[in-house]
Amino acid sequence: MTAEELPVFPFGLPNELEHHQKYEDLRSHCPVPKVRLARGGGEALLVTRHHDARRIFSDPVFSRQAILDPDVPSLLAGSKIPDLLQNVDPPVHTRLRKLVVAAFTTGAVSRLRPRIQAIADELIDEMLAEGAPADFISRFGTPYPARVICMLLGVPREAVDQVVEWMFHILSLDETNEAVTAKAFEDLAAYCAGLITERRRQPEDDLITRLIHARDDQDRLSEDELLRLVWLLLGAGFETTANMIANCLVTFGHFPDQWQLLLERPDLIPGAIDEILRYVPIAHAGFERMATADTELSGVPVPAGSVVLPVLGSINFDSVVCQDPTRFDVTRAHTPHLGFGFGPHRCVGSPLALLELEIGLATLLRRLPGLRIAVPDTELEWKQGVAVRAMVRLPIIW
Ligand code: HEM
Repeated sequence: MTAEELPVFPFGLPNELEHHQKYEDLRSHCPVPKVRLARGGGEALLVTRHHDARRIFSDPVFSRQAILDPDVPSLLAGSKIPDLLQNVDPPVHTRLRKLVVAAFTTGAVSRLRPRIQAIADELIDEMLAEGAPADFISRFGTPYPARVICMLLGVPREAVDQVVEWMFHILSLDETNEAVTAKAFEDLAAYCAGLITERRRQPEDDLITRLIHARDDQDRLSEDELLRLVWLLLGAGFETTANMIANCLVTFGHFPDQWQLLLERPDLIPGAIDEILRYVPIAHAGFERMATADTELSGVPVPAGSVVLPVLGSINFDSVVCQDPTRFDVTRAHTPHLGFGFGPHRCVGSPLALLELEIGLATLLRRLPGLRIAVPDTELEWKQGVAVRAMVRLPIIW
């Protein structure tokens, strides 16, 4: 097959049902297919089986750092930013990650519970006051996690909308927009540098201040490392959670009995969130890796230099993860899904994401029990050219 004849990835719209069948066939008959990437047109291998994905997430033969070479194909413009936590390999990664974890503890996150609850309630109050129908994305999906991560980091409320706009451009897969993306990078970096300078002068009870003071013995974050981290956490902190909640409502729309069950049994919410993380692929793929030596996956040769992409919509539906994987079941016992990745790069924001999802879902169930999507699936408008599975708008009624 010539490069032009290869299937282009990501495959069309995120229509779950159509993709489930396609990925099941791939897992059974062609578990590591070659594709052409939508952005840049380079070639990559998709990783569709759970076991292979765990391996590329954790085996040092698969490098994140090697992707930085400008000639190596990648799905996302942001993949090429050097020295970012997600783009470095051990031992550099191990050192940085230790310092981040020292500042971003579960304790520090759980102390935010009342403030996160207040943000969720405030947004619902506003939505109720305006009345149905409402666009869930602009009224709750985006502002909720954006306000939470900005509050956690110490970004003032009036800057939230601007940060959201910069991140939208940075996470774009659209090559025609590269000048806009570059400008957004620059502006966001300058803004974060200003915040760090301010916190050095006047420490506050926020994550930027904790990152400035984070220590591992004598080790501390350099100025440049600090800047990249603040920048990364801002970006990673809202786009993922925002779209996870919106996608989760679409999934409940397909399985209304599961929404009803949660209304009757809110004690099932933590388990429901685990199932949502398995069932809803937040992005078309996890971060790409490059094989640094000849190797194999499921018996398929993977030559040194190959780019591999773990496909979240497939690896969590492998029958080794759970029985009857296309059934969305909030009562399912915990599955070893890879919704937060695995190994050294496993999502560092997972304690925050879990708390936001729990408070967000519980508040929606409690305050909008009759919530329904106002349009059929065929009328859902998906964003094109972005890394995450995101909708332009999601009309809801209650
Ligand atoms: C539901 C929400 C979220 C999901 C589903 C999610 C998912 C993931 C996944 C799958 C990875 C690993 C990707 C890979 O190795 O290929 C990851 C990494 C990461 N996530 Fe999240 N994430 C979420 C929320 C967050 C939040 C709220 C933050 C920060 C506040 C965050 C920060 C990060 C960072 C910094 C990394 C890179 C970690 C490293 O390389 O060591 N994420 N996330």
